[in-house]
Amino acid sequence: MSEINWESYLREEYEWFHANPELSYEEEATTAHIRSALKRAGVRIAEYPLKTGLVAEIGGGEPIVALRTDIDALPVQENTELPYASKHAGKMHACGHDFHMAAVLGATLLLKEREEKLPGTVRILFQPAEEAPGGARVVMDAGALDGVEAIFGLHVVPFVEKGALGIKEGAVTASVDRFVLRFHGKGTHAAAPNAGLDPIPVASEFVLAAQTIVSRRISPFSPAVVSVTHVEAGNTWNVIPETALVEGTTRTMGKEDRALVREALCTQAEKLAEAHGMTAEIEWHEGPPATNNEAGCIALARRVAEKRGIPAVTPPGWMAGEDFAYYHETYKGAFILVSTGDIVANHNPKFHADEEAILPTAEYLADLMTEALGTL
Ligand code: NI
Repeated sequence: MSEINWESYLREEYEWFHANPELSYEEEATTAHIRSALKRAGVRIAEYPLKTGLVAEIGGGEPIVALRTDIDALPVQENTELPYASKHAGKMHACGHDFHMAAVLGATLLLKEREEKLPGTVRILFQPAEEAPGGARVVMDAGALDGVEAIFGLHVVPFVEKGALGIKEGAVTASVDRFVLRFHGKGTHAAAPNAGLDPIPVASEFVLAAQTIVSRRISPFSPAVVSVTHVEAGNTWNVIPETALVEGTTRTMGKEDRALVREALCTQAEKLAEAHGMTAEIEWHEGPPATNNEAGCIALARRVAEKRGIPAVTPPGWMAGEDFAYYHETYKGAFILVSTGDIVANHNPKFHADEEAILPTAEYLADLMTEALGTL
């Protein structure tokens, strides 16, 4: 494929991915599309028991390093003027996974061209269901990470300057937990509150008390978020309801903070309820942990950026979650941020990645994987 115009080829692939978004675990057309692009180039597909997504390999023997792209889209109604806007109502690549796929596909094909010279194996993961989240676990359970020395991934973000890469040691995305609290009181006539137990003031106190977890309990040098996003109680004006629901999410960059926030929040809910003669029922949904970029992999990522003349900046932390972090629980690696060259946030209906960055990112990733085989 050496006579290929990489720039326009990868743009076409990107536009196809953008126009054909599929939700988590439904990425069938996307998987088929990637499979045929890889087959055309003679890339070996490694067979793992995956319903959607796939794994490709370049080179052979050890060491094995992995490169990951996510492939799923979001349930967002696109609102861009793009000529290749989503063909599927209510579905959109609003998180840039279309860009990730195009760049990683490009890297794969570039690696294929230098396959003979590779001192090991590059395993490329086209991972389903990042947004579910948890596709990373499915890929690990399928055995696709077995024998891997280090794993690399990327994400497009608007807060890194155009043309640059965000490369940072430690956590670059946050742990994500979701909580659902139900304060159980006792329903009564609004005119006789003393005959019941009103859960609304307790839920309100909890919402305010929860604000002190980040401001009073967490170090000012540690990023953390507690957001209450859903409050619901009652359905009319003259009845005190039985229960009040409070739902939200917590984000942290470290294990200790994650445990502390959870413990503080649950204690507040339980003790506030108890102080008012009620009970609090707590549902806790643990999402991915924070990413944890390993120092050696980050130094390598910086060196390769420098060699290619790409500015590497230290990005601020991003309190979004990323299921790539599940890989970091077992494997060292680095998760690298790529600029969208735009100001629109991920998950927004006007989100747009930087097409000009596709080829440079693909070339960067191909070099990064080559160097990783030689040095890690
Ligand atoms: Ni994403």
